Amino acid sequence: MSMNLVTLLYLVASICFIQALKGLSHPTTSRRGNFFGMLGMAIAILTTVGLIYKLGAELATAGIGYVIVGLLVGGSAGSIMAKRVEMTKMPELVAFMHSMIGLAAVFIAIAAVLEPQSMGIVLHISDPIPTGNRLELFLGAAIGAITFSGSVIAFGKLSGKYKFRLFQGAPVQFAGQHKLNLILGLATIALGLIFTFTGHYSAFTLMLALAFIMGVLIIIPIGGADMPVVVSMLNSYSGWAAAGIGFSLNNSMLIIAGSLVGSSGAILSYIMCKAMNRSFFNVILGGFGGAADAGPATGSSEQRPVKSGSADDATFLLSNADSVIIVPGYGLAVARAQHALKELTEKLVHNGVTVKYAIHPVAGRMPGHMNVLLAEAEVPYDQVFEMDDINAEFGQADVVLVLGANDVVNPSAKTDPKSPIAGMPILEAYKAKTIIVNKRSMASGYAGLDNELFYLDKTMMVFGDAKKVIEDMVKAVE
Ligand code: TAP
Repeated sequence: MSMNLVTLLYLVASICFIQALKGLSHPTTSRRGNFFGMLGMAIAILTTVGLIYKLGAELATAGIGYVIVGLLVGGSAGSIMAKRVEMTKMPELVAFMHSMIGLAAVFIAIAAVLEPQSMGIVLHISDPIPTGNRLELFLGAAIGAITFSGSVIAFGKLSGKYKFRLFQGAPVQFAGQHKLNLILGLATIALGLIFTFTGHYSAFTLMLALAFIMGVLIIIPIGGADMPVVVSMLNSYSGWAAAGIGFSLNNSMLIIAGSLVGSSGAILSYIMCKAMNRSFFNVILGGFGGAADAGPATGSSEQRPVKSGSADDATFLLSNADSVIIVPGYGLAVARAQHALKELTEKLVHNGVTVKYAIHPVAGRMPGHMNVLLAEAEVPYDQVFEMDDINAEFGQADVVLVLGANDVVNPSAKTDPKSPIAGMPILEAYKAKTIIVNKRSMASGYAGLDNELFYLDKTMMVFGDAKKVIEDMVKAVE
C-alpha cells in the first residue's frame, strides 16, 4: 500500500467523519450520520491495518497478528456492550469509553517514550527523542491521564450504583480545592516541560501521576444537575488526547479524528454550559456546580400534602383542554413509555386538542435523550419544541403533562438563589393553568432536590410507573 493511497483513504475517512457530525446534528438525518461514521471508521481501520502490514513487512516485525487479535477482542466486547446497554445507561457507557481512550493515549505515550524507534519516532534505538515529539508525548499523555481518571469518577457518579464517596452523585468539596487544583496543574505543566527539554524519564513519570490525580480532583466537585457538562467535557478531552498521540505517531487520521472529537465536544460543552447557565471557564477548571448545601443525591423529600388523582382524572383534564404541553423526562425513558405516549397524543389530537412536546436540553441522562426517545416512537418532529421556543407558551397552556421529569421543571432554579440548580433555565411548567405530574413517588430527581411544582394548588400528582399510567390514559380516552 503506497503512502499516497494511505493519505487519500485517510482523507476519505475524514470527510465521512465530518458528514457523520453533520448528520448527527438533527434527528431526521441522524441515521445517515451514523452510516457515515461507521463507513469512515471502517475505512480508517482497514487503511491502518494495511499500513501496519506494510511497515511490518519493511521492518520485518510481526505486529499485525497482535493488531488483529486486538481488533477481534475489542470489537467483540464493544458490540456486546452496545447491544446490551439500555438507553438510560448510555452516559455511563460513554464515560467508560472516554476512560478507555484516555488510557490508550497514556499507554501509547509510555510505549513511545520507552521504545521510540518502534513507533518510527527515531531511526535508531540510541537516538534521543526530538524535543517537538517529547512535547507532543507530554501533552497526549497528560490529557489522556486526566481523561482516564476523570472519566472513571464520572462513570461512578452517573451509574449511582457504588457506595464509594467519590462515586456519589453529590459534589465532593473541601477548603482550598481550587488552589490545590491550580498548584497540581502548574506542577504537571512544569514537569512536562522538564521532560520536553531534558528527556528525563522521572519527570515524565511524576507528571503522569499528577495528571491522574488531577483528573479525579477536577471531576469530584461536580455533581447533580451539572453532570451533563462533565460528560461532554470529557468527550472533548478524549479527542484532544487522541490528537496529541496522533502527532507523536505522525498519524494524520488520529490527528483529524481526535481534533474533530475534541472540538465538537468543546462546542457541545459550550452549548450545555449555555443551557445550564454556567460559566465555560469554571467548567474547564472543575467544581462549578452543586453548592455545598445540595440535597441528597437520592432519597425522598419531607412529607408535605399534595393533591393526587388517578389516570382517569388526568385523562378528563386532558380531554377537556384546548392546548396541552407534554414535558418528557428521565422517568419516561426508564418506563419505556414513549410508544404509549405517542398513542395517547394521537387520540388527543384526533379529539381536537393541540399537543406539543417541550424538550429541555439536559432532560434525561444524555444530550438529545428525549429527542431520540420521541423519534424512536416516530413522534412527528413538528410537535417537538426546544426549551427556548416553547417557554413563552406555558402561560397560555390549559394543561401541562409532566412525565417522569423533575429537575428540568423545578422552579427553585428561578426562585431560590441558594439552590444548587440556581440560574439553570427550566421549562416553565409552573405557569400553566393546570399541571399534571406523573412519577412513582415523591422521590427527588438526579440533583437530589425537592420540587415546589408538586405542591402547587393547581398541580395534580398521578403516582405510578409512566407506562402503566399512560396506557390507562389511552384506555380512558377511548
Ligand atoms: P430527573 O430530575 O432525574 O427526574 C426523573 C424523575 O423520573 C424522578 O423524579 C423519578 O421519580 C421519575 N421516574 C423514574 N422512573 C420512573 C418511572 N418508571 N415512571 C415514572 N416516573 C419515573 O429527570 P429530568 O427532569 O429529565 O432531569 C434530568 C436530570 O439529569 C438533570 O438534573 C440533569 O442535569 C441530569 N443529567 C442529565 C444528563 C443529560 S446530558 N441529559 C446527564 C447526566 C445527568 P420517582 O422515583 O418518584 O418515580
